[in-house]
Amino acid sequence: MVRHFLKLSDFTADELKALVARAIELKRRRDPAYRPFVGKTLAMIFTKNSTRTRVSFEAGMAQLGGHAIFLSPRDTQLGRNEPLADTARVLARMCDAIMVRNDSQADQEEIARHSRVPVINGLSDRHHPCQLLADIQTWVEHRGDIRGKTAAWIGDGNNVCQSWIEAAAPFGFKLRIATPKGYEPDATLLARNAAAVEVMRGPTFAANGADLIVTDTWTSMGQEKEEQKRLAAFSSYQVDAELMARAKPDALFMHCLPAHRGEEVSEEVMEGVHSVVWDEAENRLHAQKALLEFLLKA
Ligand code: CP
Ligand code: NVA
Repeated sequence: MVRHFLKLSDFTADELKALVARAIELKRRRDPAYRPFVGKTLAMIFTKNSTRTRVSFEAGMAQLGGHAIFLSPRDTQLGRNEPLADTARVLARMCDAIMVRNDSQADQEEIARHSRVPVINGLSDRHHPCQLLADIQTWVEHRGDIRGKTAAWIGDGNNVCQSWIEAAAPFGFKLRIATPKGYEPDATLLARNAAAVEVMRGPTFAANGADLIVTDTWTSMGQEKEEQKRLAAFSSYQVDAELMARAKPDALFMHCLPAHRGEEVSEEVMEGVHSVVWDEAENRLHAQKALLEFLLKA
């Protein structure tokens, strides 16, 4: 049966750990002669902006000998209401995998139901699983095993936060989430992961003694109209040097990017000694190569 990667929980803990290990190996080897995807094509549907996701998938396919096609509603029939199910069936007849970035996990599931090739979530309203592969890889490269560690998510209970929630149990770490009232992650997802995940009010408690501090934009793509309200709601949630000092002295700081300095993170933390954000960004390339290798081989 064809495998899809629409959320972390689509894969077992062993599979996720193997992907991270493989990503580290691919990064180390960087063998230009390794081209397992010759003749293979990845279709990439983007209904939202992207720098890292687009470039990492496109560069990754090219480096492994394959090809990626960028598709947006502006210049495909998706923008003229061709049904997703029809689009999925057509793309799956011509391509070897489909990556989708859109604002609907349900639409991604619809695409997957009608695709006979693997479908990958490149960000939806609910999840951003590829980001988490890169983030865990980054942790492992800097600090080794993440098992038993404590990560603190400071800010919006958004798509990236929800993928952090799904990462905690399989990778064996504790996740504390500090988010203002009304911006919590999905309650069902929280309940399902209650053994590893705790929601706290206020960033200070969450950051205390943490091994890792993570944040993301307060206003995700598609929420622009709420920006002013969000700026007010999150004003005491900035990851600054003072908050970082609450964490362990060797704590790491992560952000999936793009970052908004002076909002969710201070310039000082972004550019400071704890920050590993550029490694995180680079690791999107390596982690997704490992993912594509797994899915295209399966
Ligand atoms: N982190 C991330 O997904 O970045 P892009 O929006 O640039 O793809
Ligand atoms: N939460 C952000 C992540 C961007 C990579 C968004 O959805 O816009």
